[in-house]
Amino acid sequence: MSQVHICEVGPRDGLQNAHHLMPTEAKKAWISALAAAGLQEIEVGSFVPPKLIPAMADTAEIVKHALTIKNLKVVALAPNMKGFQRALEAGSHKITFPVSASRKHSESNVRMTPEQMIEEVRRCAALPHPGVEIEGAVSTAFGCTMQGDVPEDDVVRTAAALAEFCDCVALADTVGYANPAQIKRIFSRVKREIGKKLEAAHLHDTRGLGLANALAAYEEGVRHFDSSLGGLGGCPFAPGASGNVITEDLVFMFESMGVSTGIDLQKLLAARELMVKAIPEEPVYGHMALAGLPKGFRAAA
Ligand code: COA
Ligand code: ZN
Repeated sequence: MSQVHICEVGPRDGLQNAHHLMPTEAKKAWISALAAAGLQEIEVGSFVPPKLIPAMADTAEIVKHALTIKNLKVVALAPNMKGFQRALEAGSHKITFPVSASRKHSESNVRMTPEQMIEEVRRCAALPHPGVEIEGAVSTAFGCTMQGDVPEDDVVRTAAALAEFCDCVALADTVGYANPAQIKRIFSRVKREIGKKLEAAHLHDTRGLGLANALAAYEEGVRHFDSSLGGLGGCPFAPGASGNVITEDLVFMFESMGVSTGIDLQKLLAARELMVKAIPEEPVYGHMALAGLPKGFRAAA
């Protein structure tokens, strides 16, 4: 049977852009509920300066909690060497670096040029990190709200550079500019260049094309997807960025197509309720949660 692998990024991509802080204990309960719903990989936070993103100040404690959950791959984002060292020290299983293909986004997000950021990740990957996976995520791979067009050659070059020393590479539509034809074209170009190292699609639903883009990526052979419960999310350093593709809608799409996600939709909705209770004023999105499952719905498994 066909299968896809979903990484929930709400606790990181979602909460970094939320107007309301989620208390640490609520984050822990939410992450536990996500794992209980069948998510086997969760990006639980980022190791960035707490002054810059106060919502991520408790990431070390959140990682510590997530490590107590059986069979969960605990992912954290790091923007530089200091973040990488903090992520390693905390015991993260996988560390993701955001590397913008757009020069303007790179400077705004990490205060480095794309070339400097690639070198930063190279230096991190050269340090001992036994058993820890390193992902290079090519941000703004489909366009940028500051720069506009991002040349496809820049995306391919960035992905190829990262593939030299990262375990896997993701392509991210940070600001929701992608369309399905573009997704197919760029994923296929990058795959020709780096083969199996190209792993995940990190998509945002800013212009309503999140699911269409996920399906296009699936048809192009992608089997790893990032998504966020309730469609929270967005990069605070990319003007106009908004939420990720919605986990519960993505799971519904795949399961109803007969593609297994390993996720129980009822339990996922319970995790959504916990999240909503913890940040009740934060807007959440999603069709599936609103409409409910169709009568006679059967999951893929
Ligand atoms: N964690 C904690 N503290 C950090 C840190 C990290 N990863 N990186 C730097 N710092 C501290 C430094 O020690 C220094 O502290 P001091 O003022 O007490 O001496 C201060 O932050 C400034 O350090 P500097 O290296 O000059 O960083 P910067 O101000 O140029 O910022 C980044 C660069 C990469 C740290 C910052 O732009 C960043 O965190 N970007 C990520 C943004 C993000 O998460 N975007 C969304 C995800 S894509
Ligand atoms: Zn994102």
